[in-house]
Amino acid sequence: MGEFEFVRVESDPENPAVAVIRLDRPKMNALNAQVQGEIAAAAARVAGDDAVRAVVLYGGERVFAAGADVKEMAESDYADMATRSRALQDSFTAVARIPKPVIAAVTGYALGGGCELALCADFRVAADDAKLGQPEILLGIIPGAGGTQRLPRLVGPARAKDIIYTGRMVEADEALRIGLVDDTVPTADVYPTAVAMAARYANGPALALRAAKEAVDSGIDADLGTGLEIERLQFAGLFATEDQQTGMRSFIEHGPGQAQFT
Ligand code: CAA
Repeated sequence: MGEFEFVRVESDPENPAVAVIRLDRPKMNALNAQVQGEIAAAAARVAGDDAVRAVVLYGGERVFAAGADVKEMAESDYADMATRSRALQDSFTAVARIPKPVIAAVTGYALGGGCELALCADFRVAADDAKLGQPEILLGIIPGAGGTQRLPRLVGPARAKDIIYTGRMVEADEALRIGLVDDTVPTADVYPTAVAMAARYANGPALALRAAKEAVDSGIDADLGTGLEIERLQFAGLFATEDQQTGMRSFIEHGPGQAQFT
């Protein structure tokens, strides 16, 4: 499916409809400006490829990502970062807006931008010895790739403030308890578990899944009335799709849960 220098986009060999966006910048997958650009390009590629039905974000067996590249960032002044920070956020937002189910497979560390990247997925599977966190405060800065916004939306404002104010590492069992991750498994099982989770959606109704993601993600930022209106329009829109015809015809002819979507 193609390669950049530090980010690979490949199909899972056993589940070709599952695309894997694989970070590969040893030792710690530090997310420098080039990696951020490559992540945005990878997100656009999987978003636009109809053969891709679900996506796994993965950093390899040892580490998900230890954050933005501190050595590169240390050179920035305000004027520089005023521009770069937008590219950083845009790159992660491109991942959050992939209109397909996205699962982060988190091994080792997911810190700073690494944690923020995982927050852009729909679900997170973590190794039982994974460590997540937002240590930016220890560098005299704050999270800049969505951490102050996506983290409180996921775990609530007080827990998010504790994690952001202290910069402490959150162990996998705590992450599971507070909803920062959705499953913990031994390290060797992280990737296969994430792929299995993604594969569950690969044969689903792509347009209905896209509508569900859009309705939840857009609605969560809106007041209830606006959210309900977003849902209503997405719901009605599905009655123009083959997904709806296939799903309902199959129910009437064969009973629940038998539909084969294309
Ligand atoms: N940027 C640049 N280089 C990094 C890095 C980072 N975020 N994290 C680790 N590295 C480098 C280290 O400098 C070291 O390089 P050398 O081998 O050349 O010395 C190498 O990766 C291995 O790191 P350690 O020797 O520190 O390995 P460790 O196992 O002892 O510790 C770690 C691992 C806990 C992840 C530790 O490296 C660490 O705390 N890293 C920094 C984490 C951090 O502060 N992340 C936030 C970055 S800011 C940010 O992300 C802003 C944002 O919102 C986008």
